[in-house]
Amino acid sequence: MTTDWILDQASLLILNSRRDNTARPVVRSFFDEATFTATHLVLDPASARAAVIDSVLDFDPASGTISYRSADAIIAYVRSQGLTVEWLLETHAHADHLSAASYLQRQIGGQIAISRNILHVQNTFGKLFNAGTEFAKDGSEFDVLFDDGDGFAIGDLSAISLAVPGHTPADLAYVVGDAVFTGDTLFMPDYGTARADFPGGDARELYRSIQRLLRLPDETRLFLCHDYKAPGRDAFVFETSVGEERAGNIHLRGGVGEDAFVKMRNERDHTLTAPHLILPSLQVNINGGRLPEPEDNGKRYLKIPLNGDKEATMASGVRSAPRQTMARGNWHKAPEAER
Ligand SMILES: [Fe+2]
Repeated sequence: MTTDWILDQASLLILNSRRDNTARPVVRSFFDEATFTATHLVLDPASARAAVIDSVLDFDPASGTISYRSADAIIAYVRSQGLTVEWLLETHAHADHLSAASYLQRQIGGQIAISRNILHVQNTFGKLFNAGTEFAKDGSEFDVLFDDGDGFAIGDLSAISLAVPGHTPADLAYVVGDAVFTGDTLFMPDYGTARADFPGGDARELYRSIQRLLRLPDETRLFLCHDYKAPGRDAFVFETSVGEERAGNIHLRGGVGEDAFVKMRNERDHTLTAPHLILPSLQVNINGGRLPEPEDNGKRYLKIPLNGDKEATMASGVRSAPRQTMARGNWHKAPEAER
């Protein structure tokens, strides 16, 4: 046992689930190669009740085209299996893809949930996008806000939310039976860990969050949010275990300490560029996956705050917001992902 009683509860839940097949969820994963994102559908077979974690709305930024291939595949599966979707869970406000949670909710129901710390992310990016009073920035865009240790159920399966900040301030992992949905903390052991240079991100917090996950039982099944294929690996893989991560994660193995991890992570993050969908993604994802309201011509528009605009700088007397707000990342460079 540890001094982290929430983690102790999660460990007990996992161990009980390993002993009792009826308390073990079935996980069906859907992988979007365009954004390297794994959407996981976690299912209680006894009750046919399910949750969808980290869904993807397809978006082509060059043409401004939204499409529903990824989300419709989940809807088709839910309907073909006769499932009731109780939850649409977000591990965090993603910077590399738009969430399909709002679209899924209209089609198949479920409550949209995220960390209560989304308020910090809403505040940061609400200012960046100059969001007005139509955007409350109080979390009310989501149905449920989870705190660390909050319990919930999927059918007859018990679940617990675990705060794992670092990649962003609002990252949650979801423990469902013996399965943990890690969001952007750990990637596959041969790929490493998530970046920590987004606004409010912190490599030291990320290290501590990862250590928290690695104190769960070895046999805990881990379902990751992304995979990018490590060098020498030809297949996408997004399931591993605590034991495998503890033994072999390339960013952590050999007893890498906190300071060494922070140095490695910060140096690596300085070489990364912004995800190419970060501006569209955050606008939608901090708003519960809702697209902006249509304008008077019936069309919806996304905003792109401009950097390096000398005339606006002279007119307002301030530097452009993104370079100030996102000073730690190389946001003006070419596309990059969550790694
Ligand atoms: Fe992310």
